Amino acid sequence: MAANNRLTLAVPRGRILGELTPLLARADVEPEAAFADEDARQLRFATNQPALEIVRVRSFDVATFVAFGAAQLGVAGNDVIMEFDYPELYAPVDLKIGQCRLSVAEPREIGERDDPARWSHIRIATKYPRITRRHFARRGVQAECITLSGAMELAPGLGLCRRIVDLVSSGATLAANDLVEVEEIARISARLIVNRAALKTRPKEMAGWIDRFREAADAA
Ligand code: PRP
Repeated sequence: MAANNRLTLAVPRGRILGELTPLLARADVEPEAAFADEDARQLRFATNQPALEIVRVRSFDVATFVAFGAAQLGVAGNDVIMEFDYPELYAPVDLKIGQCRLSVAEPREIGERDDPARWSHIRIATKYPRITRRHFARRGVQAECITLSGAMELAPGLGLCRRIVDLVSSGATLAANDLVEVEEIARISARLIVNRAALKTRPKEMAGWIDRFREAADAA
C-alpha cells in the first residue's frame, strides 16, 4: 500500500502512554523508538505496520482530528467523547485503560457538611462545561461554568469558585489541594474511536483494526 494511503491513529500524550504502549503491542503495533520519548518534538510516528502511522496530540484534539477525518482512528476517553458529542465519531471498543472518574470536588471544610442534593445554582471551574451543564440540568441545578484548560484544583483556593469538575484517578491531586470529591458524574476509560466516513469508504481495513483492538483490550 502506498505511504499516503496509510491509516492514521491519533493518541493522547501524557500519562496514558504507559498503558497504551502494551495495548498497542498486543495489537501488534510497535511504534518507532521516538514514540516512547515524551520529550521528543516529533509528532508523527511510523509503526511496524506499513499501513498505520501514529500521531500524538492533546487528549481533546484526538476527537477533533478523528471527527474531521484527519485521522481515521483514535484513542480517547469517554470524557472527551461526551464533551464534544461529535456525530462523526463512533466508539466501538472500550480499551479498559486510562480508568478514572469525572467528579465534582470542593474544599474539604465545605465538602464535609455540604449536600449536593440541595444545590440550585452553582459555579464550577472545569475543562468540561458541556458535560457539567448537562449533568446538572438533568437534576434541575443551574451550573455556571468557568472554562479552564488545566490546574482546576487551584480555582477554589484562589476564590474563582468553590467547586470544580475534573478527572480523579488516585485522588492525590485533590488531596494535595485540600479538596474532596462530593459527587461522581461518570466512570471514564479510554475508547477506540473511528471516523464514520472512513468506516464506509475503507470498511475492510477499518473493521480489521477494530477487531484487532478489541482482541488486544480483551487479552489484558
Ligand atoms: C489529571 C486531572 C487531575 C489529575 C488527577 O490531570 O486533570 O489534575 O490528573 O489525577 P490524580 O487523582 O491521580 O491526582 P493530568 O495529570 O492528566 O494532566 P492535565 O492537567 O494536563 O489534564
